[in-house]
Amino acid sequence: KTTSDLGDLRGKRVLVRSDLNVPLDGSTITDDGRIRASAPTIKGLADAGARVIVCAHLGRPKGAPESKYSLAPVAKRLAEVLSTEVVFADDTVGDDAKAKAAALEDGQVLLLENLRFNAGETAKSDEERAGFAGELASLADVFVSDGFGVVHRKQASVYDVARLLPHATGDLVSTEVDVLRRLTKDPERPYAVVLGGAKVSDKLGVIGNLLGTADRLLIGGGMVFTFLAAQGHEVGKSLLEADQIDTVKGYLDRAEKEGVEIVLPVDVVAADAFSADAAHEVVAADAIPADRMGLDIGPESSALFADKLADCRTVFWNGPMGAFEMEPYAAGTKALAEALVDITSRGALTVVGGGDSAAAVRQLGFADSDFGHISTGGGASLEYLEGKELPGLTVLEEGDA
Ligand code: 3PG
Repeated sequence: KTTSDLGDLRGKRVLVRSDLNVPLDGSTITDDGRIRASAPTIKGLADAGARVIVCAHLGRPKGAPESKYSLAPVAKRLAEVLSTEVVFADDTVGDDAKAKAAALEDGQVLLLENLRFNAGETAKSDEERAGFAGELASLADVFVSDGFGVVHRKQASVYDVARLLPHATGDLVSTEVDVLRRLTKDPERPYAVVLGGAKVSDKLGVIGNLLGTADRLLIGGGMVFTFLAAQGHEVGKSLLEADQIDTVKGYLDRAEKEGVEIVLPVDVVAADAFSADAAHEVVAADAIPADRMGLDIGPESSALFADKLADCRTVFWNGPMGAFEMEPYAAGTKALAEALVDITSRGALTVVGGGDSAAAVRQLGFADSDFGHISTGGGASLEYLEGKELPGLTVLEEGDA
């Protein structure tokens, strides 16, 4: 069900789960992409006369209030993006939330304080989660699930509450799922997946699954050094997950058997410390000096990756190619983004997955419209591509209780 199946919303209290988990520097939001992506659903409901109660999490507080994880700065930014007042409750299901939810008028928007200030939100125990979900549900008449970035979490506001209230899928979740479905069901080929980021262990499941669907797998970022080590190369002081080398070797063998091309960098920017002013130089990927660490892919690799993407019709990208936050190591990520922009302009479907990758391309000066789709979900989009069941989506398919 979509929000238009919910009938006349005038006067109804609608609880919306959004993913407003944005990066903060103190109380300054450094990337508001998730707020902008969540706004249309909230605005659509308010325009339809609903009394909108938005709930969301920020960071990973441990079930109790912590001021650095308050959603107050998010309420302020959401109001600016929506160009309307956003009432903010100091708690999630306490007296303030109850009073403010009860006082809402048609078309007004309320944001509740961080869901994860309540242990019940992320509790392992079904009972504890259901208890908290019951309190959330009591604030509203219907539920709209629109936090795509959390649909892989079996949490009270994502999963349990949908079992207690009539519910619908929000537009952001619908759009995200439609795009990811195009990647998994018969993608236009060649289909390439570019993976970066620090840890290979976070991506093992998805790599395993992609060996059955993608034509090319391009690897960069910190995780690439475990691949280079698996090929028998010296990686110096680079990031290395030694306990994953055997698994990666298995993937390299499987890729060869299944005809999936794995493309690794041929050169890297190697520095003597993890710092912007460290001495650094471009070296061959199979000759990283013992006292250096690779912090970006090198220029030849950028050209190779662009070449491997040039004829692709579908590309999914998750994870930066290097330590892009530091200027000397940003070129690889920038060149990759440029390669994606180029093929997008020639009609390919390009999807940038994950909060970090999305923030990286914006920080490097690209616009969301330069790509086919920027997903708000990092872990969620990877688990979708891995073929895992996502509790927040399954529960919506179950229909109303
Ligand atoms: C994310 O940032 O990927 C989502 O907001 C989910 O956050 P979590 O990994 O803390 O559950």
